[in-house]
Amino acid sequence: MTALVTTKADLRRARAQLPGTVAVVMTMGALHEGHLMLVRRAREIADSVVLTDFVNPLQFGPGEDFEAYPRELEADLAQVDGLVDLVFAPSTEEMYPVLPPPVSVTSGRLGTRFEGAARPGHFDGVVTVVTKLLQLVRPDAAVFGRKDAQQLAIIQRLVADLDLPVRIEAVDIVREPGGLARSSRNAYLSEEGRERALVLSRTVRAVEAAAPDTGAVLAALREATGGAPAGVDWAYAEAVDPATFEPIGPDHQGEVLVVLAARVEGTRLLDATSLHVAGRVHPPVSRGRLPEPTAP
Ligand code: PAF
Repeated sequence: MTALVTTKADLRRARAQLPGTVAVVMTMGALHEGHLMLVRRAREIADSVVLTDFVNPLQFGPGEDFEAYPRELEADLAQVDGLVDLVFAPSTEEMYPVLPPPVSVTSGRLGTRFEGAARPGHFDGVVTVVTKLLQLVRPDAAVFGRKDAQQLAIIQRLVADLDLPVRIEAVDIVREPGGLARSSRNAYLSEEGRERALVLSRTVRAVEAAAPDTGAVLAALREATGGAPAGVDWAYAEAVDPATFEPIGPDHQGEVLVVLAARVEGTRLLDATSLHVAGRVHPPVSRGRLPEPTAP
């Protein structure tokens, strides 16, 4: 049976009763198969699982979809019933008695790039709520998806830099049958919008096919953004160093994160993939017969 708690005091009491190790899955609700994958992973790595279901106002900018964001607690509870031990679904006032909180956590330089450049303050809001939820749940592990690649990288840095005693577990992107990465925001798209949005997953496949040639990966990204179908507004499509989020050059060797964001029908969609690249891969040199040495 899954228990629901909505206050911090009840969460602390219920958490104290959970047996063994605990993994947390943090969500903003509107659960889909992607979240359920995180829950399944949490089940594999811990004895007890806590799911948090909270639409965090701090990570939405002015004019973003905070009000419209789907809130479906009943349906969420039905989806995870029996799969998680505890659901924590607090009100905004419970999480933030004063809004905005006078003291919060900052996401540093990583939080100002890409998604952070387009959504100023977004990652500060994310790391503030993640820190609070880690403090409240006190899990051994926290499970996050790789689709929000920059969020994952920033949370990994948060835990390392602030010495938070939790292990971060990353889970691969879950895709719809056509390839679109699962997201609660896909619900905003029409059938036509979904079709258009497939340009993101096609780009993921193109860069994966181009690896390990770094130059070919960068060319595939240029081609994808240059030839985008009508109705797709690219925000960025970059290959970056996963540690710094600095764009890489054609000679880069090693791990690379490809991060993609595009707006379709007003909805911002993300996708990502990790690659190993080997720098410029030159065409093989022809091994024709060498000329006979000429007599001196
Ligand atoms: O990924 C999300 O759904 C949110 O950013 C998170 C981690 C639950 C924080 O509100």
